[in-house]
Amino acid sequence: MINNPFIFKRPLKPDEFVNREDQINIGLRCLNNSEPSVVIGDPHIGKTSFLKYLLNIVKDDKNFSNTIFSFIDTQMIGSEFTLSQFWKEAFAPLKKYVHDQLSFLYEIFELVEKNNYGNFVLEKLFLKLENHDWRYMLFIDELDFLFTHKVLNSAEFWGGLRSLSSRLDSFNIMCASRKTIIQMNQLTAEISAGSPFFNTFMRIPLYNLTEDNSNILIKRSENTFFKHDYNFIKEISGGHPYLLQTASSKLWDFYNINIDINNYSNIYEKVGREIFNELESHFLDTWNNWDNAFRKVITIIALEQLSDAQLSHHFSIERLAETPQDFLSERQKLLDSGIIKKNGSNNYVVTSKAFLWWLADEIKRNVRDESEFKNWLQINEIDWVITRGNKKKLIKFVNKLLDVVGKGSMTLIQSFAKAMGEEVGKNIH
Ligand SMILES: Nc1ncnc2c1ncn2[C@@H]1O[C@H](COP(=O)(O)OP(=O)(O)OP(=O)(O)O)[C@@H](O)[C@H]1O
Ligand SMILES: [Mg+2]
Repeated sequence: MINNPFIFKRPLKPDEFVNREDQINIGLRCLNNSEPSVVIGDPHIGKTSFLKYLLNIVKDDKNFSNTIFSFIDTQMIGSEFTLSQFWKEAFAPLKKYVHDQLSFLYEIFELVEKNNYGNFVLEKLFLKLENHDWRYMLFIDELDFLFTHKVLNSAEFWGGLRSLSSRLDSFNIMCASRKTIIQMNQLTAEISAGSPFFNTFMRIPLYNLTEDNSNILIKRSENTFFKHDYNFIKEISGGHPYLLQTASSKLWDFYNINIDINNYSNIYEKVGREIFNELESHFLDTWNNWDNAFRKVITIIALEQLSDAQLSHHFSIERLAETPQDFLSERQKLLDSGIIKKNGSNNYVVTSKAFLWWLADEIKRNVRDESEFKNWLQINEIDWVITRGNKKKLIKFVNKLLDVVGKGSMTLIQSFAKAMGEEVGKNIH
């Protein structure tokens, strides 16, 4: 049996990673220049894979000789972990050297241990490293876990990381988080006495893959996929790497089990459903990770897109809004990250079809009648941006749309598969 080349259940090994050249270069620069940084991105965008890929480059790079790397996954940290336990874990790779190459650290290391890894002794240790031209680099994955940690979410911990990493060339830190820098600062605002903890961190945002990189990834199928399969996978995923891998993997499995392949509408419907079922929890995770402003803008875009596709006329909710400028900043962020794009008619659309299907279900789940819809508008804070007269228009529109969308995602998957299948038929005949 030939192995399925698509992986979506775990972070990738370096040779499985599709290159994100620009971000890798920023990451390398941060490590080399001793600038603290944080890799930021939505769930499953590839943060852990990115950290591991980068670590694999630098560990053999001669620019990083005399450098000790340490990788902490906070999922391995218990909820009662103390500051000393954290640093003990983080210094495990460094400690290995204290008896030979780094024997100049022997005394200070003992002092650090005796003083329970307090920031003052840590500084002395890093100064000593600096004087001997050595560096220590700490990678922290899943930083988010620490924002609610009983012990580590403290001024001593965050302040120490910030102050030591920004003042000393011998200590650098690279983290990964689902939160933005602003959110990270907000989460630690209560305990920060001075300026926000994360303002000194360089932001390395991870977005959806470009079209070229999406093609490179799908090409791992070798001869299994045709051009129309590439289109199917890209349409479903919108370039999100995890969605690309999931969609490719499911289609790959289908072709390797089924020999009789002729009706593409049926194939795409069947596989489309399977992909959707696999991705539902991921979309919920993404939705929960976003704040209301993001949810609001994406819902509005999805409603317009569904109206274009299902009612064949463009219903601009933005035009109903009292203050359309409220949408602009979030919309730009969604555009930058590749979650939405502009289509041929110059309208904004959700790039991943699977995500659009999920949003249709989310709307259906919450909105079965007019009063539920009013309630839902309020909860999601869409309510206040629409004028009262326009709200009536919006409700009328949604009622019509709900009739058409029918069974939610299932209807949408069916019509998408039908259109994709017909496209294949046209190209073959
Ligand atoms: N550069 C890449 N090339 C190809 N596939 C990728 C890439 N980055 C991520 N993926 C896909 O996304 C999946 C998730 O990757 P990863 O675990 O690194 O994401 P993450 O951002 O750390 O997720 P989480 O938010 O849960 O921590 C991988 O299993 C793989 O399918
Ligand atoms: Mg991760």
